[in-house]
Amino acid sequence: MNTAPHSLPPQAIELMPHVNGARYLRMQRGLAGFGARTDGGVSREALTSVENEARRWLMELVHGAQYSWRVDAAGNLFLRRAGRDNALPPVMTGSHIDTQPVGGWLDGAYGVIAGLETMLALDDAGVQTRYPLEVAMWNNEEGSRFKPGAMGSSAFADPSRLDEYLRSTDADGTTVQQALRSAFSAMQAAEMVPLGRPVTAYVEAHIEQGPVLEAANHTIGVVTGIQGVRWFEVVVTGSSAHAGTTPFANRQDALLSAARLVVAVHSCAEQYADERLRVTMGRFEVAAGSVNTVADNVLFTIDLRHPESEVLEKFEADIRRIVESNGSPCPATVTRVMDRAPTPFDARVIDIVEAAARHSGVPFQRMGSGAFHDAMYLADLCPTAMVFVPSIGGISHNAAEDTEEEHLVSGVKVLAAALMALAM
Ligand code: HGY
Ligand code: MN
Ligand code: MN
Repeated sequence: MNTAPHSLPPQAIELMPHVNGARYLRMQRGLAGFGARTDGGVSREALTSVENEARRWLMELVHGAQYSWRVDAAGNLFLRRAGRDNALPPVMTGSHIDTQPVGGWLDGAYGVIAGLETMLALDDAGVQTRYPLEVAMWNNEEGSRFKPGAMGSSAFADPSRLDEYLRSTDADGTTVQQALRSAFSAMQAAEMVPLGRPVTAYVEAHIEQGPVLEAANHTIGVVTGIQGVRWFEVVVTGSSAHAGTTPFANRQDALLSAARLVVAVHSCAEQYADERLRVTMGRFEVAAGSVNTVADNVLFTIDLRHPESEVLEKFEADIRRIVESNGSPCPATVTRVMDRAPTPFDARVIDIVEAAARHSGVPFQRMGSGAFHDAMYLADLCPTAMVFVPSIGGISHNAAEDTEEEHLVSGVKVLAAALMALAM
C-alpha cells in the first residue's frame, strides 16, 4: 500500500466523479429483482436457484479484456480487474448476495454492486491500478439456511474450515456440498482458484443496519471494527403424549420447558443491565408440531453479541448453567455453532477510509459494527476496514430495509477513493 494516512493521493480523489450514480442504482435495483417480494423485501437465501440466477446475471454485468471471473471451492465468486503488476496480491472489496429468509434489497448486495461500480468508474477514468482488484461475492454470509454465518469468507481465510462446512445441512437435510453443485454449474465460466489466496487489503461497503448514522445525521460510517458473535443451538427432549388424556403430572412437555428456558436466558441478559449486550432467540422449532400432541422435541437458537470477549465468555457460561440445570423433566443440551471474537480493523486502512470520507464532502463519523460481516474474517488475512451508509429507521433483516439513494452513491464514492488509494 502506498499512501500516507489522513490524506489521499490526488488520483484517488479524482476517481470519485467517475462514479456514475444512475448506473450504480440501475445495477443495485437489478440485483434486487432476484427474489423480489411484493412487500419490497428480497428473499434470496444462500445457494438457492434464485441466488444462482443472480450469480449468472452478475457475471454478465461487466465486460472487457481487463476482467476475469474466479470461483473457489467454498462457492465464493470474484470479479478480477487486472492491474499493472498481476503478480501482486489483489486489493479486494465486495460483500455477499445471499439474504435473510425475508431480507432487504441492500444487506450485502450494496457492497457487491458498489464494488462493481468502482470497477466501471476506473474504466471510465481510464485507470489501470498497480495492484489487481477483485470484487468478492462471499458465499452464505447470513448463515440463516446453512450455519455458520460468513461461511465463504471464513473458509477463504482458513481453508481447513471447508470440510466441516460442506457437511452443514439446511432444514430439509440438504448439505452445502449438494447445494454447491448447482451454484458451480451457474458459475462454470469462472476459473477455479484456491482458497486462502494472499490479499493486499480489503475494504467492504455495507449498510449500517442500525440507527447510529441516521440519528447523528451522518452519511458515512468509518468502521473501526466488529463486535464478537456466538451462536448456540439448544435442544430440549421430552416425550410426545396425547393432549386430551395425559395429566400435567405425567407429561415431559418439551415446548413448555423450552419456553421457560427462553424466558430464563432473556431475563439473565436483562440482569446484566448492559446496553451493549445483544441476546436473540430467533428460531424455535417444535416437533411434532401438532395441536393435540404434547411436544417431544424443541430446537431453539441463541444469537449472542458483545464487543468484549470477557462478556461473551461469561454469558456463555450463564447459558450453559441455565440450560443444563433447567430442573424440568426434559433434558436439554446446548451446542455452540458459531464463535467469532471481536475484530478490530487496521489503523491505516481506517485512516484511508476516513480521508476518503473527508474528501467526499459529506458528514462522517467513526463507529463500530453491531452486525457481523465478511470483513471480520478478511481481517485475519490482511489490513481491513469498512464503509457504512445509513439505514432508514435503523431497519434491516426486514423487508422495509432502505437507504437514501444519495447516501448509497456517497458510499460508493468513498469506497472507490479508498480502493484507489490502496491499489494505485
Ligand atoms: O447477523 C449479522 O450480523 C449479519 O447481518 N449477517
Ligand atoms: Mn450483511
Ligand atoms: Mn445480514
